Amino acid sequence: MKKITLVFGTRPEAVKMCPLVKELKDRADKFETRVVVTGQHREMLDQVLAAFGVAPDRDLDIMSDSQTLFDITQRASDGMRAELEENRPDALLVHGDTTTAFASALAAFYLEIPVGHVEAGLRTYDIAAPFPEEFNRQAIDIVSRWSFAPTEATRENLIREGKAPGTVFVTGNTELDALRFTVRETYVHPELDWASGSRLVLMTAHRRENLGVMREIFTAVRRVLDEREDVKIIYPVHLNPAVRDAAREVLGNHPRVRLIDPLGVVDFHNFIARSYLVLTDSGGIQEAAPALGRPVIVLRDTTERPEGVAAGTLRLAGTNGDSVYREFLRLLDDAALYEQMSKAPNPYGDGFAAKYIADILEARL
Ligand code: UD1
Ligand code: UDP
Repeated sequence: MKKITLVFGTRPEAVKMCPLVKELKDRADKFETRVVVTGQHREMLDQVLAAFGVAPDRDLDIMSDSQTLFDITQRASDGMRAELEENRPDALLVHGDTTTAFASALAAFYLEIPVGHVEAGLRTYDIAAPFPEEFNRQAIDIVSRWSFAPTEATRENLIREGKAPGTVFVTGNTELDALRFTVRETYVHPELDWASGSRLVLMTAHRRENLGVMREIFTAVRRVLDEREDVKIIYPVHLNPAVRDAAREVLGNHPRVRLIDPLGVVDFHNFIARSYLVLTDSGGIQEAAPALGRPVIVLRDTTERPEGVAAGTLRLAGTNGDSVYREFLRLLDDAALYEQMSKAPNPYGDGFAAKYIADILEARL
């Protein structure tokens, strides 16, 4: 029996790790699976845990209001040191590029516990964008023993950086495993009734490096909305106070914008499925929306998901007001472009990434 601990702390990690928690727990004859959460996010993490029915074995509960990167790193590191010293696993699994994942992988490295990195190998090679995530994921990949790359391109990044080929596996992205659990044909919601008869744009924004330009982005979005009366926006606003202030200030009083609290993941995935297009600076949504055939305008200058751009399902709009205005309007007006983007192939796998990861761990541990 091998002991595996999974650790995560934010909403997107939880969405993508819960399918793996379930898969490993289903193999109780092979693995003793332990779930630790840092609580880097509180409410937004708990929403996902409730949706998947996952109860953590330990909760470090580290979140504070407007926390700094120092706060998260120090608290997660101290908490994970204690956790790993008390319950030494055969492997620690972390996900993606958050500070929870970085601090946890570092703690395991210091204690000489092997790390498996789920969603490994994503890169912009611009250390300032996304900030601090590009650093986090590169650092995690350095200390990982097993890298679970979602795509062939992410595997190639790792091999080019010197990872041994036998330690890097292409699995697809577990966001798609989550979609198999959440999306339902019969789904209904009152907010969707409000938008019926209009083209629904689902929007989110939260990136640290975008906080200074959020008002400019929102102003551009508002300009487009004023010019296209058949468009309505639903924007579940991230709980970061800096994001909430900007969203309320610029978009708060528009009759065709609904600013709502973060949606549970079942709701959010079904909202994507019912939307016309998605505007976002999120990472996970760049995977979920293409898998559901929804075009995405990415509110960023760069992306670590170039497969989506190459496949034709994502378009980078940048963070400058004029370019956001132009790209958003173009996709609303150009029916051929819209058609092409919605029909583009999804590059993120077949929705069984958790199974492949569990198979690899069974073989390797
Ligand atoms: C974090 C991750 C980012 C990820 C994002 C997903 C880091 C450094 N950042 O960024 O990679 O893309 O999560 O959403 O790891 N808050 C609440 N309740 C919650 C969640 C957040 O009140 O449930 C508020 C708190 O005031 C908190 C602030 O939001 O201090 C920011 O949260 P934080 O985790 O530091 O940064 P995110 O921008 O969410
Ligand atoms: N999501 C959610 N509710 C929301 C917004 C997003 O459940 O109101 C989900 C979304 O479907 C995706 C994940 O949260 O699975 C992405 O989280 P986020 O955008 O916060 O982080 P990122 O992926 O950018 O790190």
